[in-house]
Amino acid sequence: QELQLSLEQIEKGGYDHFMLKEIHEQPKAILDTYRGRMLADEGIIRMAGIDDHINKFMNAQRIIIVACGTSWHGGLVGEYLIEEFARIPVEVEYASEFRYRNPIVTSKDIVIAISQSGETADTLAAIKLAKSKGAFVFGICNVVGSSIARETDAGAYTHAGPEIGVASTKAFTTQITVLTLIALKLASKKGELSKPELSSLLQKMQLIPGKIENLLKIDDKVKEIAAVYKDAPNCLYLGRGFNFPVALEGALKLKEISYIHAEGYPAAEMKHGPIALIDENMPIVVIATNKGHYEKVVSNIQEIKSRAGKIIAIVTEGDTQVKEIADHVIEIPETEEALTPLLTTIPLQLLSYHIAVMLGKNVDQPRNLAKSVTVE
Ligand code: AGP
Repeated sequence: QELQLSLEQIEKGGYDHFMLKEIHEQPKAILDTYRGRMLADEGIIRMAGIDDHINKFMNAQRIIIVACGTSWHGGLVGEYLIEEFARIPVEVEYASEFRYRNPIVTSKDIVIAISQSGETADTLAAIKLAKSKGAFVFGICNVVGSSIARETDAGAYTHAGPEIGVASTKAFTTQITVLTLIALKLASKKGELSKPELSSLLQKMQLIPGKIENLLKIDDKVKEIAAVYKDAPNCLYLGRGFNFPVALEGALKLKEISYIHAEGYPAAEMKHGPIALIDENMPIVVIATNKGHYEKVVSNIQEIKSRAGKIIAIVTEGDTQVKEIADHVIEIPETEEALTPLLTTIPLQLLSYHIAVMLGKNVDQPRNLAKSVTVE
């Protein structure tokens, strides 16, 4: 028993929980994901799984992304990235729905299956269905040699390293990194991005690990915010564009480890329902990056303020407008809007972590949840 405990302590590398360790591993995990796959200055992205099947990708009439949970949120970011840059239509489906709803899939479709564990039963079944309908299936997995990695026609590993905490953290940001590389590679191949444009985006990508390293220093500030809202029964998360899926992911993180009810919404959907929930007891996390429909999100924040909701805003460094209205402000470093999910995710992970710890919850192994969902 004693030996067991000390081994676990060693594995946690000085952190109290695997989740915190894995949050802090993200700069390295993201670097490991793109290292060896891109030459930023030359504007080159090499991914064997894509290069070997480039004609399939160039002729694809549609990409369908299938996944569950956090990986599904990663897929949503992928939809925004691939449509924005590569201009290929993308649909994102819950694997569990896709597999049973008799979807229209043809050999002109590419299905991208995303899974950290590579063992999720619904995602595996969705892959088998897509293959039976003639689609080319590409996997984005973390666990090397996993069932999904073996079942797919080609793929790209995330290289995040082992993720032990049930709440997915570095798997999410590395999935987004792979999807960014795919989107940019296809865009460049299709002539949607020039070499200098691609090179400039890749150079910005190279700055992301360092920016996350700096961002992680806000931990104490996030802890203070966590202390204020740890007893809230509900929490709303709002974001737009590339950060809409990050809002969903922030809400999932909070609910799965702290058991606080949380909902993520596209910010503009607030007026179609969730606004009715807002009063002085409702904390609302709003992602308001400076290039992400900023003015529109600011007016959402004003609407929250006028209903006395408590605003925790994630803004870009140097922001002045939101700072005047929000109750709490967390700044992320400036970057290309398409890359902001890699940054805005970090404070949301820390917020849910600190709230769960303060509530005395089992952060690494929340009740009722398993790391790999190998049953339906
Ligand atoms: C994430 O925090 C969750 N534990 C869960 O939603 C997870 O992302 C989902 O079960 C999918 O797992 P996979 O990526 O291993 O397929």
